[in-house]
Amino acid sequence: MKKHSRRRFIATAGAAASVAILSPSLFDITSVFAAPFTRRDIGSLSAGDPIITGYKTAVTAMKALPATDVHSWSYQAAIHGTFASSSHAAWNTCEHHTKYFWSWHRMYLYYFEKIVRKYSGVPGWTLPYWNYSAADQRQLPAPFQDATSSLFVPDPNRPTSWSAGSASLPPAHVDISAGMAQINFYMGASSSLEGNPHDNVHVDIGGPSGWMGNIHTAAQDPVFYVHHANIDRLWNLWRAQGGGRSDPLGDSPWKNTLFLFFDENKNTVTTKGCDVLNSAAQLNYNYEGEPPEVTESCLRLFFPPWIFQIVNLIIWPGPPVEVGGERVLIPIDIKAMKERMLSAADSSSQTLLLIFDKVEAERLPGVVWEVYAGLPAGKTPDPNGPYFVGTMTLFSTGIRSQKMHNYKPAEFQFALDRVLASALRTKADKLEITIVPSPILIDGKPTKPRVASPARIGRVSIAIENQQKQTK
Ligand code: C2O
Repeated sequence: MKKHSRRRFIATAGAAASVAILSPSLFDITSVFAAPFTRRDIGSLSAGDPIITGYKTAVTAMKALPATDVHSWSYQAAIHGTFASSSHAAWNTCEHHTKYFWSWHRMYLYYFEKIVRKYSGVPGWTLPYWNYSAADQRQLPAPFQDATSSLFVPDPNRPTSWSAGSASLPPAHVDISAGMAQINFYMGASSSLEGNPHDNVHVDIGGPSGWMGNIHTAAQDPVFYVHHANIDRLWNLWRAQGGGRSDPLGDSPWKNTLFLFFDENKNTVTTKGCDVLNSAAQLNYNYEGEPPEVTESCLRLFFPPWIFQIVNLIIWPGPPVEVGGERVLIPIDIKAMKERMLSAADSSSQTLLLIFDKVEAERLPGVVWEVYAGLPAGKTPDPNGPYFVGTMTLFSTGIRSQKMHNYKPAEFQFALDRVLASALRTKADKLEITIVPSPILIDGKPTKPRVASPARIGRVSIAIENQQKQTK
């Protein structure tokens, strides 16, 4: 990556200090360069804030550029994904449900932000983040609802219910707890948080036909970037928890694979994982309100503290499971494995997993499904109740009609420990998995789920993940 000139007059300012310095005088040029650029919580910004007005100015300017200009709105969106059959440098290069998900999107946002800053006319412009996990931020942020703004996208590319402020994200779709609890990077925290909240927010906003719901069109909606600033923030927050959480620094492809972008001067730039480990130290930005960032280095010899190994216990012998608009039950016979499952659920070094693989749909289902384990027959599924294990959503993988990206079926892993420690102690020899469609809320109430295409789960299994401390 090209070195950017960083003029840090207060080199030691921590995250909290820099927020205090930046907020009152964001556009005083000396303070802008004094500390990392701070990406702000969009929920705290007024309509007249230069972050909002600058974004609008930039989107308008970028939309006016010819499509072949690397700074144009459509070119930038096409780097993420496009249906266009012609191909230009870096088009359709987004990484999904691979170990590069977090790093690729961090790089993408970093250059996008520099370009927007240039066209915004606001020297300290930063991408705000949308923290939809906060109970008061589950509706589309207000600046995107304003029909006169360049941040607005009309129906059907963004359904009216979102733009009108009546739609909201169900709390279970933006619950980061399962992902944050994971120690492993991939499969682990990265893939779990990519599902919930990332894929859920895409599919909830876009549905089966809106821009946000489709990987090839999502980045045309200006709300995409505030969604992704939040996902990028979660990477920092995940690592800050410690407990052995770290990036895959022993993985040479993860560290060294080069990805292509364009900077604010239209230069081609290539960037690799090692360049984007530390957002404040290497990329000169941080997030409003985040704890001190954990720094990592590719220079240090890395010894992963934990190794993970998955052992299959039960592969459900039934046929592929079709899921659509109705409640689906999968009765898994656990008799022979009950003792092992119980001891895994009790053990601190083992995690009991429910795994769905070979999950596929012909077209975008446009809906999120909730998954439960051990839900008693006749009981209403409740994501706040003790049987909820997570969500299943098809966005970037498992959709056969999405040909621009390398096709692969989707895979989901759900931790069962919390749910099963007690459920397994009952007499039952069957563990029932329940899957129900989970619609967005309108005026705070569930709507009738619309499933545009059913999905098929090719294989259902139960496994144990063993976590072992590496000894040097
Ligand atoms: Cu590359 Cu949220 O998508």
